[in-house]
Amino acid sequence: MAVREMAPKANGEACGVCGGRTYVIERRGDQALARTCECSGNCSVCGGRGHVLVEREAEFSQKVGPRRYEVMEQCVCTQRRTRISRFNEVGLPAVVSHASFDNYRAFNEAQDRGRGVALHFAHQYVKGGPSKGFILSGPVGTGKTHLLAATLGHLVLELGVRGRYVEISLLYATIRRGFQEGKSGGEIIGPLSEVEVLAIDELGKGRGSPFEMETLDELIARRYNAGRTTLFATNYSLEPEKRAVRSAAPTGYRTTEDARSAARDADLLRERVGERIYSRLCELCTFVELPKDTPDRRRTRQEMDAPMHHAAGGSRTLGR
Ligand SMILES: Nc1ncnc2c1ncn2[C@@H]1O[C@H](COP(=O)(O)OP(=O)(O)OP(=O)(O)O)[C@@H](O)[C@H]1O
Ligand SMILES: [Mg+2]
Ligand SMILES: [Zn+2]
Ligand SMILES: [Zn+2]
Repeated sequence: MAVREMAPKANGEACGVCGGRTYVIERRGDQALARTCECSGNCSVCGGRGHVLVEREAEFSQKVGPRRYEVMEQCVCTQRRTRISRFNEVGLPAVVSHASFDNYRAFNEAQDRGRGVALHFAHQYVKGGPSKGFILSGPVGTGKTHLLAATLGHLVLELGVRGRYVEISLLYATIRRGFQEGKSGGEIIGPLSEVEVLAIDELGKGRGSPFEMETLDELIARRYNAGRTTLFATNYSLEPEKRAVRSAAPTGYRTTEDARSAARDADLLRERVGERIYSRLCELCTFVELPKDTPDRRRTRQEMDAPMHHAAGGSRTLGR
C-alpha cells in the first residue's frame, strides 16, 4: 500500500544524515540507541496525527458486490517510533553503534562468509517464522559483535522484530545481583527465553561454575524447545583441530602432543558449554569459524589509522 512506502523527501533526494532510512543509531552512554532523523521529525504523510485513512475494497456479499470503504491505519511514523523504541530495548553496546553490513570488511574468505551468512539471515528473515540462526567463532576484534549488531539492527528497525542482545558474563552477573535482591533466576531468564530473536555474545566465557552452566542450559533449552531463533558469537573454537598421527612416535614426542591436544581441547566451545548445549547449537545454527590469523581490527586500526583517527561519537547510520 502506498502509505507504507517511505516518505519521499521534499527535494526528492535521500537525506544525507540517514541515507533515507529516517532513523539514526548513535552512542549514548554505554549503549547504542536509535532515534528519528531530523529529516523525518515532522511527518508529511499524516501531518503528525500518527495514523492515516486508507481506502480499501472488499466484497462482503455477492449480492452487493465489491464495496469501497475507509480504514484507519498506523502511519509509517508511528511504525518507526515503535521500531525505534524496540531497538532501544535490545541492549546493544555503544562500541558497535556504527556497525553495519556495509562497513564490515572481510580480510579473508571466512570473514566474507560470516558477513554473507549474517546478511542472508537478516534479509530472508520472516517475522514470526522459523529461522535457523548462526554462530560466529573467531579471535578477538574480528567483527563478531559487529555482525550481531548489524543483524539485530536490520531485524528490529527494518522488520519490527523484537530482539535482545546479551553478553553472557554480564547476564550471569545480572542474575547473581538479582538473587541478592530476592529475584529468582527465572525472572531474568524468562523474557530472554521468549524474545523472538536473541543474540548471545561471548558464549563459553565465564568460570564454568554449576550456576553458570545451569543458567545457560536453561536459556538455550527453553529457546530450543520453543523453536526460537538464537544467534551467537564466541572466541572458542567450533571444530577440533586435526590431531597429529601419533602411532610410531617416540615417547617424548607423544607427551608433547598430548599436552598440545589438551590445550586445544580447552579452546573448544564443546568443552566449554558441554555436550547438551553443543548438540542443540548444531541444530539451531549455521557455523562460521574465523581462522586464528584473522587480523584484530582494534589493533590494526590503532596501528594504521592512528594519525588520522578521530574520536568516534558522532551520529552514524546503520546500513544494510
Ligand atoms: N571486519 C571488520 N570490518 C569492520 N569493522 C570491524 C571488523 N572487525 C572489527 N571491526 C570493528 O572493530 C571493533 C571491534 O569489533 P567487534 O567488537 O565486533 O569484535 P569481536 O570479534 O566481537 O571481538 P571480541 O572477540 O573481542 O569480542 C568494532 O568497532 C568493530 O566495528
Ligand atoms: Mg565481541
Ligand atoms: Zn534523515
Ligand atoms: Zn505520520
